Amino acid sequence: MDELRVFSGNANLKLAADVCSYLGTVLGDIEVSEFNDGETRVKLNENIRGVDVFIFQPTFPPATNLIELLVMLDAAKRASARRVTAVVPYFGYARQDRKDQPRVPITAKLVANLITVAGAERVLTMDLHSAQIQGFFDIPFDHLYAAPVLIDYLKKKAFKDLVVVAPDIGSVKMARAFAKRLNASLALIDKRRPKPDVSELLNVIGEVEGSDVVIVDDLISTGGTIAEAAEALHKQKARRIIVGCTHPVLCRDAVALLNGAPIEEIVVTDTIPLAPEKQIPKIQVLSVAELLGEAIKRIHEERSLSSLFV
Ligand code: R5P
Repeated sequence: MDELRVFSGNANLKLAADVCSYLGTVLGDIEVSEFNDGETRVKLNENIRGVDVFIFQPTFPPATNLIELLVMLDAAKRASARRVTAVVPYFGYARQDRKDQPRVPITAKLVANLITVAGAERVLTMDLHSAQIQGFFDIPFDHLYAAPVLIDYLKKKAFKDLVVVAPDIGSVKMARAFAKRLNASLALIDKRRPKPDVSELLNVIGEVEGSDVVIVDDLISTGGTIAEAAEALHKQKARRIIVGCTHPVLCRDAVALLNGAPIEEIVVTDTIPLAPEKQIPKIQVLSVAELLGEAIKRIHEERSLSSLFV
């Protein structure tokens, strides 16, 4: 079998290094920096001819993270790698995935095109905002779920009459999967969003009074969706309120907002690193390094990944 090498941009070097530890290797030698004018500069410092190359970079803001991914892919392709896989633990711009009003872009499709044109021959990602984004690519695409990592952690808690809550319609599928595996019932919050980044809650659909609840979502951005969901559940007299979420984007005042909300604990993963000021006792970070590492290993060995898609 040929060699496997993982090269990472600057977005989440810790997770990339942890994935490499799982694989029993070290990060590939690459310089990802900036020219004096701020443009992204990439240089692979090792020969990768004929190598199975994995380019690792989550694409949360700023857009430099996306640019680094694209430029690294281009460098790998031009350096004659045998195969180039984009490993994107968090796929940014995913929420702009359809024309929901006149004269708006489908940015998720644009990003898919960019990744493909830059040189990716396959993609590995985790908890896409909507699974249909896979169809924006015409190359092999592996879509992992962080659910096994989050559920293992949640199972250790002594819940009483557990209800898993979807904070909006888009999260129902994820919530249903969690409810099934946590042996819990399901509730839903009917949310309407009057304008971008502002959420408004209408109704809790389902019985939560006196129950422990776990709110699940793919990402937390401004924190508005989760904070308002927690307030609504608190008003309905839910007992303990825990949040399980894959991608902690946590922009603007999200951390302060969540800290002040009636939430006992927020469990997230390390697809996006938390800046020191975002590391508060209420937020527990679980690692998806083993899951991503195992997927990379199986892709490299041309083995099935299906048992990881649970
Ligand atoms: C919505 O469709 C997503 O699943 C999240 O609920 C939402 O994007 C989170 O955004 P925010 O934290 O800004 O409310």
